[in-house]
Amino acid sequence: MTIYLDRPIISQEMIDAAVYSLQNEYPLFGESIAKFEEEFARYCGTNYAISVGSGSDALMISLIAISVKGKHVLTTPMSYVATANTSFHAGATPFFADVQENGNINPKEIGKKLKKDKKIKAIVPVHLHGYPAEMAEIMELACKKEIAIIEDACQAHGAKYFGKRAGSMGLIGCFSFNPVKNMSVGGTAGMVVTNDEKLANKIKMLADAGRKDVYSHEHELIGFSSRINSVNAAIGRIQLRELDGWNEKRRGMAEEYRKRLSEIEWLQTPDCDENIEPVYNKFAIRTARREELREFFSNNDIQSDGHYKIPIHLHPPYRKMGYKKGDFPMAEKFADTILSLPLHPNITLEEIEEVCSKINEFGINKK
Ligand SMILES: Cc1ncc(COP(=O)(O)O)c(C=O)c1O
Repeated sequence: MTIYLDRPIISQEMIDAAVYSLQNEYPLFGESIAKFEEEFARYCGTNYAISVGSGSDALMISLIAISVKGKHVLTTPMSYVATANTSFHAGATPFFADVQENGNINPKEIGKKLKKDKKIKAIVPVHLHGYPAEMAEIMELACKKEIAIIEDACQAHGAKYFGKRAGSMGLIGCFSFNPVKNMSVGGTAGMVVTNDEKLANKIKMLADAGRKDVYSHEHELIGFSSRINSVNAAIGRIQLRELDGWNEKRRGMAEEYRKRLSEIEWLQTPDCDENIEPVYNKFAIRTARREELREFFSNNDIQSDGHYKIPIHLHPPYRKMGYKKGDFPMAEKFADTILSLPLHPNITLEEIEEVCSKINEFGINKK
């Protein structure tokens, strides 16, 4: 039987909520949407949450809201492409600072870039695999230069950094609810969180064709059609209630992996600082033998994948801009050695044991 890398969860309660919404709510602007936003904001500890069509839209609309057009945005080369692509969509140019050992953006590299580039208007740190970036140092650097921080928390719903939720520390936090995230909505959607009332209103308008409210015939901004539907919001509300429990299960299973794998000398398990509560959107080991191991897993019906096997600057559009191998050595090394193991709230201890026993078998056979 296949051991899955991740598995979206749709319970009977979620199906019932979806059916209720379909039968009783208007598909757009339904009561479930307002409630989902209110509950998500409360969960993150922010004053506002605005639902949008995707995590990518959350980032793009946030960048537009803070007027990055013609400016530079500093981000990490080790992420999903949307992290950087959205700067282009917002009329800005993304630039990169290399990562540290755990794959998150390195504050020291940010410092170097900020010294040289006076056009940087925003920093987009990513909490890669659900492990919060070095927010204290990043915020200090940004604060000195009055640069906005937009947290890409698309993989980090519920993660904590010194007690604060991912997404709640910067000026704006962005989330994705696509099916491989720690919580979803039975489809795709995103959320923006902030404490800034003016920005919240602007983001809401931008996501809804630029109008102040749904009854308005006047469109004050050049906006987008980036909305969540009521059915997805109804499902999202229930997933949000489950989120802490699911994250706890992910952490528990990550520990089980760690216990079984930490003695193996040819791989590294991810470290965890005591002030961090990660949510393990991915449990990613590092090994120079990544490709061989991945093939061995695949032959044994175990799913695995590299997140991310290609750093952003080496994707074709970025290569065309002049980026090349060697520009961000830490991110490139990370990309060559990273391998995500199966992990989701419904994974069983037997499955974890099977994955670990196959890793041991691989190690013995390939010595
Ligand atoms: C770090 C990161 N940023 C942005 C996104 C984009 O989110 P979406 O797929 O909802 O557009 C994702 C989702 O894959 C992501 O993992």
